[in-house]
Amino acid sequence: MENNNCFKVDENLRHIAFIMDGNGRWAKMRGMSRPEGHKVGVKVFEHIANTCFDFGLEAVTFYAFSTENWKRPPAEIKTIMNLLARYLEVCGDDLVKREVRFRVLGDKDGLNDNLREKINSLEQRTAHFRKTLNVAINYGGRDEIVHACKKLVDEGREINKENLSLALYTEDCIDPDLVVRTAGEKRLSNFLLWQASYAELYFTDTLWPDFSDEDLILAIKEFYRRRRRYGGL
Ligand code: FPP
Repeated sequence: MENNNCFKVDENLRHIAFIMDGNGRWAKMRGMSRPEGHKVGVKVFEHIANTCFDFGLEAVTFYAFSTENWKRPPAEIKTIMNLLARYLEVCGDDLVKREVRFRVLGDKDGLNDNLREKINSLEQRTAHFRKTLNVAINYGGRDEIVHACKKLVDEGREINKENLSLALYTEDCIDPDLVVRTAGEKRLSNFLLWQASYAELYFTDTLWPDFSDEDLILAIKEFYRRRRRYGGL
């Protein structure tokens, strides 16, 4: 494998979105609790986000908590929310140093006040940067589209593709070129349904806690082997 520091993407690949699946299985295989898998998952999330920006990506999105994940056991939900809160507490300076904008995709009203305040504060602090790190929390793709439509109606604006795109949680962020899902499942699970319309989909059996720079490079190389036609020839 080549020296990762030299690996760079070009203008054809600007945004990768990740469905971080397999934390629970990874922990179970080691006789650990599911929350332990999420703890390792956060470390991998931080590392892969940094690697993506080092490779020259303009935007990176991670699916951290879906609207359906509230069905999980309370202890597991608590762990994920605590991990998010902890990340928000410690990551600010690093994101500013790396000139990365932080944005949450999802219904923030459904989160607790403490988490929401931390998110709002970090979003404001980093709002002027161009590179973007999106983290989907309490996110559902169908809810997002309905929310965007309601927003346009409330504002008395026409529902068309341009207005609707800008009314999504992603606002002016470029659409993902590539969606990567780990841990073997081959579906989108309500993730970026509008934005991923023309994205290349890449599935790997690697569990998220094992996902490495080398796995990322394999996904990127596969992306460059695909021919994107957007419905044309
Ligand atoms: C999917 O694995 C993973 C999740 C539902 C949660 C992912 C959350 C994190 C990595 C923490 C988020 C925190 C930050 C700061 C981004 P799974 O539990 O469904 O795994 P399984 O399919 O093996 O059960």
